[in-house]
Amino acid sequence: MRAYLPKDRLIMIRIVMTAIALVAAMTASAIELNDSQRAAIEERIAPVGEVCLQGDSSCGGAAVAVSSGPRSGKEVFDAACMACHSTGAGGAPKLGDVAAWADRIAKGSDALHQSGLQGVPGTSMMAKGGCMNCSDEEVIAAVDYMVEGSQ
Ligand code: HEC
Repeated sequence: MRAYLPKDRLIMIRIVMTAIALVAAMTASAIELNDSQRAAIEERIAPVGEVCLQGDSSCGGAAVAVSSGPRSGKEVFDAACMACHSTGAGGAPKLGDVAAWADRIAKGSDALHQSGLQGVPGTSMMAKGGCMNCSDEEVIAAVDYMVEGSQ
């Protein structure tokens, strides 16, 4: 079934549609923002963090230095050994405790390096003191650092 509209009704509909389009266009331009409003909105929706590429000094201050070469004995100690070796946790000989280290140092540095790398079975001294990202070289440096500071 088809309904035919008289021609003047069609013209009326066109006029009404045009008017609606005009009103819509005017409303759209009414919400145009001034600069400070736009800046405020941009600030509100700014991302929380920005990716800072290594070597790009324009963001986030100084780029974090990527470790070049092995960490020093002290750095490794502070990061991986201190939890036990500065508190004596689980019977760990403390850094600076000469008496606790004397008998161990007497075993010789090779033996101590071995203990550092392989751990001491049956104790909480795990291989590499549990430092899975430490190289052998770094663990040995940490052992030497403790020995030097404990005699
Ligand atoms: C979870 C605790 C813990 C951590 C972490 C730890 N140690 Fe130990 N360490 C011990 C304990 C306990 C002993 C004593 C073991 C024993 O009874 O001989 C020990 C003993 C040692 C000894 C002496 C071993 C010997 O043969 O006399 C060395 C060397 C040593 N640790 C090196 C390290 C180094 C290097 C690190 C860090 C990379 C480290 N430890 C981290 C608990 C720890």
